[in-house]
Amino acid sequence: MPRFTRIFQPLIRSVLFVSAITMSSVQAADKIDLIIDTDPGADDVVALLLALASPEQLQVRAITTVAGNVRLDKTSRNARLAREWAGREDVPVYAGAPKPLVRTPIYAENIHGQEGVTGVPVHEPAKGLEKANAVNYLVDTLRAAKPGSVTIAMLGPQTNLALALIQAPEITQGIKEVVVMGGAHFNGGNITPVAEFNLYADPHAADVVLKSGVKLTYVPLDVTHKILTSEARLKQIAALGNTAGKLVGDILNEYVKGDMVHYGLPGGPVHDASVIAYLLNPALFSGREVNLVVDTREGPTFGQTIPDWYNTLNQPKNAFWVESGDAQGFFDLLTARLGRLK
Ligand code: RIB
Ligand code: CA
Repeated sequence: MPRFTRIFQPLIRSVLFVSAITMSSVQAADKIDLIIDTDPGADDVVALLLALASPEQLQVRAITTVAGNVRLDKTSRNARLAREWAGREDVPVYAGAPKPLVRTPIYAENIHGQEGVTGVPVHEPAKGLEKANAVNYLVDTLRAAKPGSVTIAMLGPQTNLALALIQAPEITQGIKEVVVMGGAHFNGGNITPVAEFNLYADPHAADVVLKSGVKLTYVPLDVTHKILTSEARLKQIAALGNTAGKLVGDILNEYVKGDMVHYGLPGGPVHDASVIAYLLNPALFSGREVNLVVDTREGPTFGQTIPDWYNTLNQPKNAFWVESGDAQGFFDLLTARLGRLK
């Protein structure tokens, strides 16, 4: 063995060893430690498939379900279905709140169908729910989590997290960021002229989360209505030729019809999947820090979100409000990740 190698080989090996450790720790450090709270829901199912197809970026600890688009038993079944379709039965599903904090429950079967998933047949998935309630899971997990380590994607009414915060306010210590699909400002609401469904379904819960002081990002209709399906984009997904592409194509073809008619649009939004895309590639989106309030008073503005976009009142900024996004970039990402699934 040449003298040079004999002398420097141990040094070379230790440098390679350290760089390998560093790389793996950097990759591990880059993963988002994620809980997805959801009311599946056609667009929730697409969001779950996108998230579960991205394990190198998203460490999905659990899916927690809430009543919203349909009743809790069906949102919980549909979350288990999405998990099965993604081939990710390693991810536990916890059922949570069956009704909002204060207001009478509302549902959206007219948009999501009686079973809560449009365009495809549903069945009872093989793997069941976890025994623990989602609210208790959130309290236990966020209490024990490393400070500021867990990201929560909120794809439905914010009831579960609000109940957890009321029960144990100290759980904010474990939360890195809450990314909410919800709210509307510049172009009006979808359930009333000013309110978006998730906020309208439980504005009191949203108010609890807003006032908790957690780092908040809102992905409202302002941006999801700019990221619309088209024939070409749906063809791109169907052309994947796998089960996931067929499922999402069939789900979205049916799901977007309501919005296309209501708004006279050439395509429809995939609201909840925009939250997951934001986590996967925030560069696709833009917005600004704002002071955000939600109206919990009964009346014509019940559930309205009011982001102070021009900082008129000069109040403390408590949310990042996403206002625009790269629609083709979103569909390219969604299609590529769905292509990874069976
Ligand atoms: O307004 C759109 C939101 O309400 C989406 O999360 C959809 O799934 C419904 O829950
Ligand atoms: Ca939803």
